[in-house]
Amino acid sequence: MALAVGVVHPGAMGAAVGAALRAVGTEVCWASEGRSPATVDRAAAAGLTDVRTLSALARRCPLVLSICPPHAALAVAGQVAGAGFAGCFVDANAVSPATARSVAAAVEAAGARYVDGSLIGPPPAPGRPVHLWLSGRGADEVAARFARTDVRARVVQAGDTAASSLKAAFAAWTKGSAALLLAVRALARASGVEQELLLEWADLSPALTGDSDRAALQAARKGWRWVGEMHEIAATFAAVGIPPGFHEAAAEVYGAVAPEPHVPPEHPVPPVPPVPPVPPGRAAPATGARAG
Ligand SMILES: NC(=O)c1ccc[n+]([C@@H]2O[C@H](COP(=O)([O-])OP(=O)(O)OC[C@H]3O[C@@H](n4cnc5c(N)ncnc54)[C@H](OP(=O)(O)O)[C@@H]3O)[C@@H](O)[C@H]2O)c1
Repeated sequence: MALAVGVVHPGAMGAAVGAALRAVGTEVCWASEGRSPATVDRAAAAGLTDVRTLSALARRCPLVLSICPPHAALAVAGQVAGAGFAGCFVDANAVSPATARSVAAAVEAAGARYVDGSLIGPPPAPGRPVHLWLSGRGADEVAARFARTDVRARVVQAGDTAASSLKAAFAAWTKGSAALLLAVRALARASGVEQELLLEWADLSPALTGDSDRAALQAARKGWRWVGEMHEIAATFAAVGIPPGFHEAAAEVYGAVAPEPHVPPEHPVPPVPPVPPVPPGRAAPATGARAG
């Protein structure tokens, strides 16, 4: 059996990546200390080995994958480093290159090696692979661990944090344009012209009504997590001298959406009005907009 891989922590993506490694016989460990019942259930369903603590994980796994909300990435790296991890640490989260460098510094100070990573696409399932991009020294070695799995690991040769840059560029469009659609419908609703906007879209841009409905559904499920990701994207733009304001505004839009995390993925119709509430003091209250 190949050497064990640790996952911190088995969320929707981490558990699915773990299951993909399990399917080719790799032992995948996680640490339940401090985690929620939902994470316990996901890890069990994916066949992951619970070693209880991060210290045990650090001893048992020469490779650890960090797959957690972007706003927690640096803290999680610090906890793994603090547990004495001295193997190869891959941060696969949607963070800026600057945050990736801070993560690298935290784990390298504890004696570990850092490989930058990012995940593009929904959690993998049999026959539906996710893309794992890797960059920096040791990226090829990590990629080899995913051979024959539903994780398509690819190395990007454009600097040590290129995987993070690529994810920022990809999500800048997918989640940034979705936030813009939410803001546009909020504007139309606040101005009393939403139905007329939908008529114009039906005539001239027929995809946009459905796109904005889907954006509302996704924002209700995951918008709370995308706030941090939008700030990371904004920082990525700023670092190369491109205005970061689009994604700072997107963070504000997602932060205004009332969370509905338990909407089932197969739900066909958006259960929430497709607008975030207008922040107090910014504009006239939106007629019929969801409170909160
Ligand atoms: N899901 C996707 O479709 C998708 C697609 C591409 C990339 N990704 C990337 O994958 C990463 C994880 O996404 P996900 O969908 O798996 O998220 P998720 O389902 O929300 O899971 C996050 C995991 O991290 C743990 N966690 C939450 N807050 C934490 C904190 N403050 N400190 C430490 N651990 C914390 C959770 O454990 P507890 O609940 O037990 O705290 C949970 O097990 C993100 O960086 C995201 O950008 C996800």
